[in-house]
Amino acid sequence: MKIGILGATGAVGQQMMVSLLEQGIKVDELRLLASFRSVGKEFEFNGEILKVVEAKEDSFNGLDVVLGAADNSTAIKMAPFIKKAGAVFIDNSSAFRMDDDVPLIVPEINGEDAKKHNGIISNPNCSTIIALMALYGINKKSKLTKVIASTYQAVSGAGVGGVYELENQLKAIIENKEIETNIFPYQIAYNCIPAIGSFREDGYTSEEVKMQNEGRKILHLPELLVSCTCVRVPVLRSHSISISFKTQSPLTLEEVKEALSSSKGVRLMDEGSKGIYPMPLSTSDKDIVEVGRIREDKVIEGYSLFCSGDQVRKGAASNTVQIIKCL
Ligand code: A2P
Repeated sequence: MKIGILGATGAVGQQMMVSLLEQGIKVDELRLLASFRSVGKEFEFNGEILKVVEAKEDSFNGLDVVLGAADNSTAIKMAPFIKKAGAVFIDNSSAFRMDDDVPLIVPEINGEDAKKHNGIISNPNCSTIIALMALYGINKKSKLTKVIASTYQAVSGAGVGGVYELENQLKAIIENKEIETNIFPYQIAYNCIPAIGSFREDGYTSEEVKMQNEGRKILHLPELLVSCTCVRVPVLRSHSISISFKTQSPLTLEEVKEALSSSKGVRLMDEGSKGIYPMPLSTSDKDIVEVGRIREDKVIEGYSLFCSGDQVRKGAASNTVQIIKCL
């Protein structure tokens, strides 16, 4: 396969190179594409040194698949060129996710939908993927009707710039220097910021509504009700999500645990009294999503759980590379 990575210099683009090798995709050519700022930068892939080229109209010729790891506006600008070159665009931005003719794929859940593509396939929002990994096995036993979620999102979800910002702020605090904020609206070191994305009139943020809209599309549950609060926390990698859910017909605790232990891509970490529960540090740099703290929730008349997963991997790069296999 001849594969391009659009946004190859970013956090997700770099991880895609690793995921391609880990998942054993046979790569005949890998083309690294980014902005003019990165032209000539070198990266090693499978023992070869590759140079970054500028993404422009004719940069995609000859490619079979382009993995998108850039922002919305770059994805929108490049999509027609990728289509013209005859390549399939598997994109991580949110630009096309809710388009009717664009499949939105988590391979363990709706991999079959990938085949109905029209040249573009979207990778869902990172928190949505991690939450749905914890819910899809349960949904198979009994359809979900309501989900209430709160996220604890790592700084790398905002790209490499987010990681530098946390590290620089921690350094500045130790050295008693002035703290600079560029990526996040406030200091993120020693803080939590309950605002990711832009605010809508109803008080939710754009990030929070993605969980509902994308979840409905992926699970084929148009009526699913989701209320979400998204919070940025000073964690480097791995998003965690606290979830309470209700299903159409009631399940026993054993059925919920059984559904989770037989879900591909999920590891049950559910012995709280022994200190066994999901944490961002234990899922960092892993593809597996951990789920634990499973307990009956009398308020929602369902169950509550806590899950954690590396959003650069399963929430982005690894999921995108898995989609190649669905094709
Ligand atoms: P560059 O490094 O040249 O700016 P992250 O989300 O980690 O910040 O990464 C964003 C990725 O998207 C980077 O690889 C970045 O490349 C790339 N990118 C940003 N703007 C453009 C553009 N106009 N054309 C192509 N790639 C872009």
